[in-house]
Amino acid sequence: MEYLSLFEELKVRKMSLDLTRGKPAADQLDLSSSLDSIKIDIYDFDEVDIRNYGLVKGLSECRDLGSNILGCDKEYIWAGGNSSLTLMSQYLSYLCIQGVGDGPWSSEERVSILCPVPGYDRHFVLSENLGLNMIPVPLDGYGPDLNVIRSYVESDDSIRGIWCVPKHSNPSGETYSRATIEGLIDIFSNTRKNSRIFWDNAYAIHDFEDSEPLEDIFSIAKDKENEDLIVGFGSTSKITYAGAGIGFMALSKSNQESFLPFYSALIIGPDKINQIRHVKFFQENDLMNHMSMHADLIRPKFELVQKWLHGQDYGSWTKPTGGYFVLLKTDPGLAKRIISLASELGLKLTPAGSTHPYSVDPEDQYIRIAPTACSIEELDSAMEILVCCLGLAYQENERN
Ligand SMILES: Cc1ncc(COP(=O)(O)O)c(C=O)c1O
Repeated sequence: MEYLSLFEELKVRKMSLDLTRGKPAADQLDLSSSLDSIKIDIYDFDEVDIRNYGLVKGLSECRDLGSNILGCDKEYIWAGGNSSLTLMSQYLSYLCIQGVGDGPWSSEERVSILCPVPGYDRHFVLSENLGLNMIPVPLDGYGPDLNVIRSYVESDDSIRGIWCVPKHSNPSGETYSRATIEGLIDIFSNTRKNSRIFWDNAYAIHDFEDSEPLEDIFSIAKDKENEDLIVGFGSTSKITYAGAGIGFMALSKSNQESFLPFYSALIIGPDKINQIRHVKFFQENDLMNHMSMHADLIRPKFELVQKWLHGQDYGSWTKPTGGYFVLLKTDPGLAKRIISLASELGLKLTPAGSTHPYSVDPEDQYIRIAPTACSIEELDSAMEILVCCLGLAYQENERN
């Protein structure tokens, strides 16, 4: 196949397409539209009028919902505002300003966070904004490579934590094995200073095909007597509404006690009206059945991406069973070129490098494909463009 003539043909079509962000499409949001008409006739819950301030840790029934989603005991869960990313930023700010036991991170010359790559761009931007030094570590299909982590942690005292997206990881799609979870806990339990594993379980129940289960890190950490190591996060952003859902965090009892004064200075109480709406919604709609309706809408899009990629000769790619991304790996030095060619044809792709700390993919070879937000027809056109640009970039490379 000669891709240059197809490229010229596609250019004439002047398309405007976007495969950048992992967002639910409108038909997915429609699955939760009855949230808007849920009538609240009682306002007194947990001895608080939910229209008022209060219940900083969230409504008890909503914490049950968080526990069902995140797969850990309710005693760990707080239900917050509409975004888990905000909770992550608040917890990291607390570590920088106040710290846990060893004083504020900001008073140290260097604090480093391990960042499994390819990873989630917003974890990296958040860490960079807070002045944390990011160290990339490779993923091995079952989570981050424990040998690399062990050797870094043993030789560098500035390492104080690691970002993890343990289920259907963004964007590599992998789910951490029990051995990886145990290994992470063991390695970080032996550091000289207090560390934290940031367990961002954003895709905890987001399977669209049979998927490997994820073990509950809190019960494993409890057996190893180090629950304080883990700080979990999740939300209903890709379950109900991405802009008006509920964010959750999961903390040990002692972490809750030390974080509460900092957190209570930031928030007098979350939106408990939205919390009770979510509780009632999931009394009427079974959570896992609701997720299988999402899966039915998402699955054909992932199948279409696979069909286009299998129909050509270049690169390698993931075949996830859940989550929101397919990760395309090209020969070194081609990702930027492909993304720039795609932009000439009107297709926006996540900028090359965004899967890595400081936006630097050293081999320039990863492209994140986010197929959910557009319609199936748009996705078909977008994949035609992507495949064309992939082929053209490889052919240019072969000629040079
Ligand atoms: C790994 C991961 N964490 C967090 C988020 C954002 O979560 P929230 O909407 O709860 O802030 C996303 C969104 O794409 C994500 O992929």
